[in-house]
Amino acid sequence: MMKAVVISEYGGPEVLQVEERDIPELNENEVLIKVKAAGINRPDIFQRQGKYPAPNDVPQDIPGLEVSGIVEEIGVKVTGLAIGQRVMALVPGAGYAEYAKVHFGAVIPLPDHVSFEIGATLPETIYTVWHNLFQRGNLQKGETVLIHGGAGGIGSTAIQLSKLFDAKVVTTVSCKEKFDFVKSLGADVVINYKEEDFEEVLASNKIDVVLDYIGGVYFSKNIHVLKEDGRLIYINAMQGAKVELNLFKVMQKRLTISGSTLRNRSVEFKQSLTEDIVKKVLPLLNEGKLKSPIFRKFSIYEASQAHSLMESGDFLGKLVLVF
Ligand SMILES: NC(=O)c1ccc[n+]([C@@H]2O[C@H](COP(=O)([O-])OP(=O)(O)OC[C@H]3O[C@@H](n4cnc5c(N)ncnc54)[C@H](OP(=O)(O)O)[C@@H]3O)[C@@H](O)[C@H]2O)c1
Repeated sequence: MMKAVVISEYGGPEVLQVEERDIPELNENEVLIKVKAAGINRPDIFQRQGKYPAPNDVPQDIPGLEVSGIVEEIGVKVTGLAIGQRVMALVPGAGYAEYAKVHFGAVIPLPDHVSFEIGATLPETIYTVWHNLFQRGNLQKGETVLIHGGAGGIGSTAIQLSKLFDAKVVTTVSCKEKFDFVKSLGADVVINYKEEDFEEVLASNKIDVVLDYIGGVYFSKNIHVLKEDGRLIYINAMQGAKVELNLFKVMQKRLTISGSTLRNRSVEFKQSLTEDIVKKVLPLLNEGKLKSPIFRKFSIYEASQAHSLMESGDFLGKLVLVF
């Protein structure tokens, strides 16, 4: 048996409880990880609220999309990984548990100098940012990217990776503390969205790529600030998914509008994304150039406090559960 943080019923942070569960059974392509730490992400909140169901083959009541730990067991068809190895992994769910299983194609060796806590906070944001900003958004050296909500988990990774690949970063935040934080990560232009309208600050036609998860009223503003041949990429729509679009704007500026959700993608897709990340992003972690700013660590018995803090928005970077 193992301990897991479970969603006892859909609701507020208080519904998270520690319970005993069976250790997951492996199939031939999977790896069992003895979890040392699990990253906390905004989608975990939506799952707890009943708004973001896990895929069918994953327990619905255990949140958690990224873990780090030690390989405990491997399926007969697993290649490239060994029992006892330190790893981090993108899991389709059930990461808030002492053991987590995952297809070997979504596992990345954890460099020796990177702690389990840091490792647990990397996969969900790196996979999401790499695929959406660089593969889908095709962000290029010298281009300007607008990253909304720069001080959160996705935002802090997106800022760093954009700078490491020589793009200029514009980002939005809600307060002075977050302003200073994103500056420390390398953001070039920071807009406090509570004080200024980003559309007015940027005027028209300044931005090559926008990464947005706000949606709602931001949609038409994003369209306005994009340059010709600009790309608008969605990874959520927290303030509304139904928007109005002037198709002539898309035609006149030859815009591309795209987006994706990571969790429901096939294991083949995740494996190929892993290979690209190992080649292009892992070296940056190895060289100490990519950091994961952890704001606070929580024990599994403090999962409710961790979710409350995330919902309050009163944090910078990442939150992590430690086993
Ligand atoms: N599609 C995918 O595959 C995928 C994968 C992972 C995450 N996501 C999505 O990405 C989003 C971010 O996740 P996360 O884990 O990074 O969450 P997080 O750490 O909680 O960060 C959210 C950030 O958004 C900021 N924010 C809220 N309202 C804003 C607004 N109107 N304008 C600008 N910034 C605003 C928050 O700060 P302030 O409120 O202080 O501004 C906070 O910094 C979530 O919606 C999540 O569902 C999508």
